[in-house]
Amino acid sequence: MKNIWKSLALIIFIFFATPNLISAVQNEMSTINYSKDVIYQIVTDRFWDGDKNNNPPSDIYSADCQNLHKYCGGDWQGIIDKINDGYLTDLGVTAIWISQPVENIHALHPNGYTSYHGYWAKDYKRTNPYYGDFSDFDLLINTAHQNNIKVIMDFTPNHSSPALESDPNYAENGAVFDDGSLLGSYSNDPENIFNHNGGTDFSSYEDSIYRNLYDLADYNLNSAKMDNYLKDSIKLWLDKGIDGIRVDAVKHMPQGWQKSLMNEIYTHKPVFTFGEWFLGKGEIDPKNHHFANESGMSLLDFRYGQTIRSVLKDGTSNWHQFHEMIKQTKNNYNEVNDQVTFIDNHDMARFTSEKSSKTSTDIALAVLLTSRGVPTIYYGTEQYLTGDKDPENRKPMTKFDKTTKAYKVIQKLSNLRKTNPALGYGRTKQRWINSDVYIFERKFGNNVVITAVNKSDKTYTISNLKTSFPKGKYRDILNSNLAGVDLVVQDNGNADNFDIEPNSVSVWECTQKSESPLIGHVGPMEGQYGNTVTVSGEGFGKERGTLKIGDEKAKIISWDDSKIKFQIPKMSGGKYDISLKTSQKIESNTYQDFEVLNGKQVSIQFVVNDAYTSMGDNIYLTGNISELGNWKTEEAIGPMFNQVQYKYPKWYYEVSVPANKKIEFKFIKKDHTGTVIWESGKNHTYTTPKQGTDTIKVDWQE
Ligand code: NOJ
Ligand code: NOJ
Ligand code: CA
Repeated sequence: MKNIWKSLALIIFIFFATPNLISAVQNEMSTINYSKDVIYQIVTDRFWDGDKNNNPPSDIYSADCQNLHKYCGGDWQGIIDKINDGYLTDLGVTAIWISQPVENIHALHPNGYTSYHGYWAKDYKRTNPYYGDFSDFDLLINTAHQNNIKVIMDFTPNHSSPALESDPNYAENGAVFDDGSLLGSYSNDPENIFNHNGGTDFSSYEDSIYRNLYDLADYNLNSAKMDNYLKDSIKLWLDKGIDGIRVDAVKHMPQGWQKSLMNEIYTHKPVFTFGEWFLGKGEIDPKNHHFANESGMSLLDFRYGQTIRSVLKDGTSNWHQFHEMIKQTKNNYNEVNDQVTFIDNHDMARFTSEKSSKTSTDIALAVLLTSRGVPTIYYGTEQYLTGDKDPENRKPMTKFDKTTKAYKVIQKLSNLRKTNPALGYGRTKQRWINSDVYIFERKFGNNVVITAVNKSDKTYTISNLKTSFPKGKYRDILNSNLAGVDLVVQDNGNADNFDIEPNSVSVWECTQKSESPLIGHVGPMEGQYGNTVTVSGEGFGKERGTLKIGDEKAKIISWDDSKIKFQIPKMSGGKYDISLKTSQKIESNTYQDFEVLNGKQVSIQFVVNDAYTSMGDNIYLTGNISELGNWKTEEAIGPMFNQVQYKYPKWYYEVSVPANKKIEFKFIKKDHTGTVIWESGKNHTYTTPKQGTDTIKVDWQE
């Protein structure tokens, strides 16, 4: 009898508990919404050697890692070990970004370098054996997923490996293989899968795209063979269970091809994808904004990274410049919360230096983790690893100490990102500022987080601080670990005066459900008919309501209080607003400018001959589909290129357009004032291929 009651209780328990458990896990593990995540960037070879049996041959291996240009033995088993022993889970990070997992060249570079970093691909359909084999990779994915950790892979579709046109014996001649069968090598390239234009001097966008980055054999992404191979390869890794992609060197590949890549990824399995478009200190580039808004992928937020370094590492800027960056980037990026922020990485000096105090690292981490964007921690920053130049900034982990202040700051704040949606979805408001002190508020609905930072050695008394908090006393959620204090707020949201300690950070928060549905995130940011899109936020209700994209009612796939999945209806391409109504007919806010594509995308090279211009004029492409700007000259594609692949008076550009579609297009001339001159004659017509790539050449109609 007792047993019957026991089993009944168990059945009832399972009945009620399972759906909640499942939805809790699903919420945390969205592959497209990283708003509540913290990414941990791992150079796989430098993290932990979990399997001595897969270490490389002696010419490319440095057992004691004294030679930082060689492999040091780190592998996927090492990452698995550090998940299993709790180092990563206790830290609170919810995603790891690992080195490109594909097979790299084995040769020693003439300068003594090796492919330990994973950026010198040889065969994208095989694993780097020094990291592990496919069964190790499966185990990494499973272990990560069981621990609610997403796996992001680095991906290098720009180039293979170091090569010299004139010397087939230089490294491995850039040779690239499709699961063992040779596709081509740099000095033997019958199928034209590489560009052969020498190395870039970085003098222009075009030069950076069509010439080699350093000595790296540059792919011709207009080759149907290469296009197909790279798209097939990424699908293989998506099928292996990866949850995100970091795309290397996006500034060095045509944006059109990358947009077609994103369409392929989002149609196969939508995962959060962000590109690396390096910006130096102080650099602002409108092409970078255009890429983040139009390519379909987010970007690593170098502007955020460089600015916080100037303020807290170098001391060359102060909080006024920081806040200016926050304000400007809010306007520059359509989705500023989807840009991937960091304070250091493997291509710049580590944040902590021999001379700096660890406190500045702690402060920077606290600001990073409460700022807009998806924060990324570079492995070892929590252990205060130092190193100014590559490869010194890629030294192996020396210890896995869970008691450092930095470790604890990350732990507390990555947890806060999960529980308070103001950090993932909110807007930023400056509440108090001078050159030393910055108090900023993040707010989403009635969820609020306030961070107060003082980077100086002085104590400041803060008066007249306004907040969005209800009346109450707020504890510093860092427990004064960074010398934070508590905050008392009165009825009107005004805080009582308080002293902000030297070199301190306080973080206060409150969460409260809002009355109406609030959209915080939509991903992916573009899609074609039939693609699944996820809308995240709060207050959507448990019962299904309705969701509109433009004027179309979307088919709902699933609906819960914080997440809705819908299918993109058949509609013409363009940018549309998304909004929803709960089953109680309460309306949400509007998410703007979701891009609907006119079907599956292919990358096409458009070439126009004999387009003569005066100095300062440029040629652009326009046409009758949204991908070509729907004849709106301000949305025309360009300025087109005319220096490398083809030379003036020929102009060319690669564009992502719908497959298997008859399109009309024309070229236009814009002078430096923006005045437009149309090509005369009839519109050009062209039917795009069903798949692959193509080149369409026409003469300018004078
Ligand atoms: C950028 C990467 O982050 C860097 O480390 C690498 O060497 C280059 N791209 C080339 O792949
Ligand atoms: C307006 C332009 O003037 C013309 O040349 C072009 O053909 C049409 N737009 C497209 O219908
Ligand atoms: Ca190993």
